This record gives sequence, structure tokens and C-alpha cells, in this order.
Amino acid sequence: MILVTGAAGFIGANFVLGWLSSVGESVLSIDKLTYAGNLENLACLRGDSRHTFAQLDIADSDELLRLLAHHQPRAVVNFAAETHVDRSIDGPDAFIQTNIVGTFRLLESVRNYWIGLEGRAKTEFRFLHVSTDEVYGSLAPDQAAFTETSNYEPNSPYSASKAASDHLVRAWHHTYGFPVLTTNCSNNYGPLQFPEKLVPLVILNALGGKPLPVYGDGLQVRDWLYVGDHCSAIRRILEEGKLGETYNIGGWNEKTNIEIVTAICHILDEIRPRTDGLPYAEQISYVTDRPGHDRRYAVDARKLERELGWRPVETFETGIRKTVQWYLNSPEWIKSVQSGSYRDWVQKQYSDGSDI
Ligand code: NAD
Ligand code: TYD
Repeated sequence: MILVTGAAGFIGANFVLGWLSSVGESVLSIDKLTYAGNLENLACLRGDSRHTFAQLDIADSDELLRLLAHHQPRAVVNFAAETHVDRSIDGPDAFIQTNIVGTFRLLESVRNYWIGLEGRAKTEFRFLHVSTDEVYGSLAPDQAAFTETSNYEPNSPYSASKAASDHLVRAWHHTYGFPVLTTNCSNNYGPLQFPEKLVPLVILNALGGKPLPVYGDGLQVRDWLYVGDHCSAIRRILEEGKLGETYNIGGWNEKTNIEIVTAICHILDEIRPRTDGLPYAEQISYVTDRPGHDRRYAVDARKLERELGWRPVETFETGIRKTVQWYLNSPEWIKSVQSGSYRDWVQKQYSDGSDI
């Protein structure tokens, strides 16, 4: 079996669901269940004997060692993290605690378990650390996309804490020979994403008749990847990646934020038009920019294509349409995530943007 951390979050849950339907091997899912973790994301696995869930902080070494000894996973995939840039600006503590201290504790727990393995169980063991392209910093319009050898120049508390975790993972390989793989992926979108991130926030605000908040001039660029493609890349790297290597994962889909918001509006105009006949783009509202907002991310994923033969399946157009459709079809899930703490965050973050 494999152990997946952060399994009740957006990408972790998509990964576990995709793994069980494509690979079929058992999964031990762990998650602290912070505001971003939602067991509803794994609800369809209730009663599936291949899946076990434990509520656990990756920093809880004693309990983690007990679970590792009991379940004997052949690999760990680490998604657990605090992930929202705006929250990291508002309160960085949790980011330092989970992304740095938590990753350190997780590495030590899993290394202790790995030391005790023998034969093929030891040589074939893998620890795959899931990270972000944001560790590389921000690109000028004419700069080449990030490669695996680009300098680390993180700008936000979130990206700095992820960069620190990547360095720990690298050092555990270099110093202890711990069998790691690291992935640095671009912005994901798709089903099950918590609606504090741009794509689901815009879909839900549009449907709710609320303003669609665009930070600054909306011309910041991100490279967007459908979550299912991110998960397939991780599966490929877990099975075929070279020990100690890092792999960039990207969608070859550079878009400005305003293009993303407009694309969502157009799809909604077509499949769920406003009752007053006006376009959803009427709801776009430019709001105060994020402090230190990175201008552009772009990922060069050619190493992954060249060495492991991976390319994304979805284009932005097919992926965003599937995503909008999923949110339209999932009112119960939406109700389950829009709790009091979610409303408190939205109220605080967008207080200058009138009734968002
Ligand atoms: P998410 O916020 O939706 O999920 C994170 C999950 O981790 C949540 O379920 C949360 O409860 C859990 N968690 C937080 N602290 C924990 C702890 N101390 N112990 C155990 N579990 C804990 O995030 P996501 O978008 O699914 O991101 C998953 C990973 O992928 C992160 O490491 C993130 O940095 C990385 N990543 C995300 C993106 C993206 O666009 N979302 C892009 C590239 C990389
Ligand atoms: P986000 O989904 O938070 O991802 P990240 O900051 O990790 O890239 O934001 C994506 C982009 O959208 C980013 O440039 C910030 C911008 N954005 C807005 O313009 N308005 C919003 O309400 C949010 C949440 C993000």
C-alpha cells in the first residue's frame, strides 16, 4: 500500500480517487483536517476495503511511526501543507509549522521507518514530495519558463515555506540517502478545490450573484494545469522517476487572471445564463492587489516529457469546462465547504470589495 498525506484536500483527494480507480493498490490516507481538509472529498470510498483514513498531523511523529509500522507502506506521497498565499500573508505561523516543521518531522518519521526495512522493501521505497512552481519566484514577461535548475527565489510566506520544505527533502537525500522525489507543479484547477482559490471562488461568486474579485490589473500570469493531469504526472514520477531528482509539472497554459475569469463567465453564460440575460462578466470587480503579488509563473515541463514521456491530456478549454460543470453538479459538496470559518475568511479578505 501507499501512504498519502493531505489526502482530504483538493489535490490529495483527487490523487487518492484516481489512484484507486487506475492503480487499485490500497491507500492509507492521513490528514489533519484543517479548514481546507474535507472528508466529504473521500466520501465515495466509505466501505472500500482498499482505503483507510486516519486524522493525523504530519508533525505527530509518535502516531505516524505507529501507523507506518502497522501498515508498512511501500511509498509516501506528501501533499499535506498550508497552501493559500493570501492566508500566508495574513498569518504565516501555520505555514511555518506545517510546511517546514511538519515536513521535517514527517521526513524523520518516514526515514526511521525506512531504515528498518530490508531488501527490496528498502531499495524500492519512495518518498514523493509535492511542491509548487512558486518556489522559483516571479518571471518578467520575456523570461524563459522555470526549469528544474532555476534559482529558488520565493516571494510569499507560502512559497518561502514550501521552498524550505523542498530544501529539507533534498538534504535528507544528500545526507542520509533517503529515497526522495520532488515535484514542482503550476496552478491546479478542477473538482474538489476549496473555494478560496481563484477558479472555484469565481464560479461560486458568479452563481451567487456576487462580485468577481480581480486583484490589481488582473494581468498576472499563471500556468494552469487540470488536477487530473497533475495526478497522472505524480503517478508516473512515483513509478519511474530517478531518485533524488526534481520534476517540473506544467500545463503549457499561460493565462492572465482576467482571461481565466472571463473564460469562466463565458462558459456560465452558455450553460447557466443569468436570469436577467446579462453576461456574468458584468460582475467583475477590480479590487486591491495582493501585497508582493508575483507577476508571472510559467513552467518548462520538458524534462518530464523527455525522460518519462508525460504530457497533460486536458487543454485549458476542456479542463475548465469540466470544472465548471462539476461545480454546477455538486451543490451538496458546496454547502459542506461553505462553513462559518469560510464565510469569516471571505468577509475579512474582501472587506474593501463590497459584499463579496
Ligand atoms: P489544500 O489546501 O486543498 O489541501 C491541503 C491538505 O493538507 C488539507 O486537507 C489539510 O487539511 C491538510 N493538512 C494541512 N496541514 C496538515 C498537517 N499538519 N498534517 C496533515 N495534514 C495537513 O491544498 P492542495 O491545493 O490540495 O495542495 C496540495 C499540495 O500540492 C500542497 O503541498 C501544495 O503546496 C501543492 N501544490 C498545490 C498547487 C495548487 O495549485 N493547488 C500547485 C502546486 C503544488
Ligand atoms: P490563487 O488561486 O490564490 O493561486 P496562487 O496565488 O497560488 O497563484 O490565485 C491565482 C491568481 O489569481 C493569483 O494571481 C491571485 C489571483 N486572485 C484574484 O485575482 N482574485 C482572487 O479573489 C483570488 C483568490 C486570486
